[in-house]
Amino acid sequence: MSRSVLVTGGNRGIGLAIARAFAAAGDAVAVTYRTGEPPQELTDLGCLAVRCDITDPEQVERAYKEVEEKQGPVEVLVANAGVTRDQLLLRMSEEDFAAVLETNLTGTFRVVKRASKRMLRAHKGRIVLISSVVGLMGSAGQANYAASKAGLVGFARSLARELGSRNITCNVIAPGFVDTDMTQALSDEQRATIVEQVPLGRYAQPEEVAASVRFLASDEAAYITGAVVPVDGGLGMGH
Ligand SMILES: NC(=O)c1ccc[n+]([C@@H]2O[C@H](COP(=O)([O-])OP(=O)(O)OC[C@H]3O[C@@H](n4cnc5c(N)ncnc54)[C@H](OP(=O)(O)O)[C@@H]3O)[C@@H](O)[C@H]2O)c1
Repeated sequence: MSRSVLVTGGNRGIGLAIARAFAAAGDAVAVTYRTGEPPQELTDLGCLAVRCDITDPEQVERAYKEVEEKQGPVEVLVANAGVTRDQLLLRMSEEDFAAVLETNLTGTFRVVKRASKRMLRAHKGRIVLISSVVGLMGSAGQANYAASKAGLVGFARSLARELGSRNITCNVIAPGFVDTDMTQALSDEQRATIVEQVPLGRYAQPEEVAASVRFLASDEAAYITGAVVPVDGGLGMGH
């Protein structure tokens, strides 16, 4: 049965792969994009693209209204939008710290809160948050990013407890290093060092993250909530 799915940050990278996977399965998919124009591929897939910066509550409200009007209340929310602003602690400004928390954690709170309103009324819903292996292991130069991604785990587990009785699940995916614009910014040397630490010896493809998201939103995963699912080639084992 076709569901109403919303993916934040779905214009590129992991978000686009997630949108592609849900659309291929026959769901009605809306994606948010923040800058530029959404790729033609989204139109070809029949996805609805809605401009929305998740740091702005008014834009979030407007985006939800548009999605609800065009494809109905959101039944599956994938909170994927995220940013990095890497810097060693002593060089990290208040602004660098706050901006990453504002997008990755508070922005996620905003979109989840708005989706949960209608899910609670419907007595069903699936929420999947995209965290990172870095939120569990830590990463030098990414204190802001790691804090925001670790925060998502406590957030999701609180919601799993709060919303479970209404048949709403809330789970976290913790990807390792995935081949997207975010990691293209790394030097060849940094990439080689990372790959050495990954038992599977390679980066993930965005589609591999998307497959786990789809699983957590499927009927087969109806009894899974509050879980942190690693999609990291074994990098974070034990965390
Ligand atoms: N790549 C990795 O190795 C990796 C590993 C673990 C976790 N993750 C997480 O996976 C998610 C997707 O990452 P990615 O690699 O696909 O990154 P990406 O290619 O840099 O894409 C990030 C997406 O988030 C959107 N976004 C950023 N700030 C936003 C805001 N304020 N409001 C709305 N949208 C915003 C971007 O929109 P614009 O196009 O407008 O900038 C873009 O669509 C992120 O949460 C990231 O932290 C990535």
